[in-house]
Amino acid sequence: MTRFSLTFALENNLTPTNLNLRPIEIDDFSRFIKLQSEALLHAPEVFGSDYHWFESLSTVSKEQRYEKYLNFPYQYLLGAFVDENTLVGMVGFSVDNSQSKTRHKGKLWGLFVSPNHRGQGIATKLVETLISTARDVVQCEQIQLTVGTENQASYLLYLRLGFTVYGTERHSMKLVGGYADEFLMVKFL
Ligand SMILES: CC(C)(COP(=O)(O)OP(=O)(O)OC[C@H]1O[C@@H](n2cnc3c(N)ncnc32)[C@H](O)[C@@H]1OP(=O)(O)O)[C@@H](O)C(=O)NCCC(=O)NCCS
Repeated sequence: MTRFSLTFALENNLTPTNLNLRPIEIDDFSRFIKLQSEALLHAPEVFGSDYHWFESLSTVSKEQRYEKYLNFPYQYLLGAFVDENTLVGMVGFSVDNSQSKTRHKGKLWGLFVSPNHRGQGIATKLVETLISTARDVVQCEQIQLTVGTENQASYLLYLRLGFTVYGTERHSMKLVGGYADEFLMVKFL
């Protein structure tokens, strides 16, 4: 499958900067590790994986996990790059293409934009590009995701992009000092 690369001008940016969206590749491993650590450190309530657990993994384990994200267009991470090749945002997609009964349903996961690059439309462009790729390249008919019920910024972003709530999972994650509930959301394509 031919990979793609899209370039946009960043919104609200006084210095003209290009934003490049493309699936991450094998050579992006160290960029991914850096952003993933940042995501787990800055947004622990958002991701199922734990920062200390991730940091304790060997490089080989991290590489093995990483390789599972390189199967575009079925299981991949869409990366947002600025300044040539700095990874500042990402979103994951997966669909089980081997099963005819469920391959019409894709899953979006792991949306994250580095704090210094927020508010410029990067998450919006990542999600829009993931949706159009799922529809046009994989022929998905719906995309599902989960989002914390307290995560207002992401919830509003997904609503604006056409996702609707079809359920709530109570105590979806057990955190220090309590639980997080999650909305189950879907967008039919
Ligand atoms: C949620 C997140 C991905 C948004 O990234 P972003 O690139 O800043 O988003 P965009 O610039 O595309 O903005 C999308 C909308 O969200 C709003 N928004 C973004 N960050 C916000 C924040 N912290 N608080 C309130 N609204 C916010 C923007 O104003 C924008 O709305 P608008 O177009 O109506 O003005 C980013 O804040 C993030 O990584 N958060 C931590 C991880 C997370 O929550 N991931 C989602 C897991 S489900």
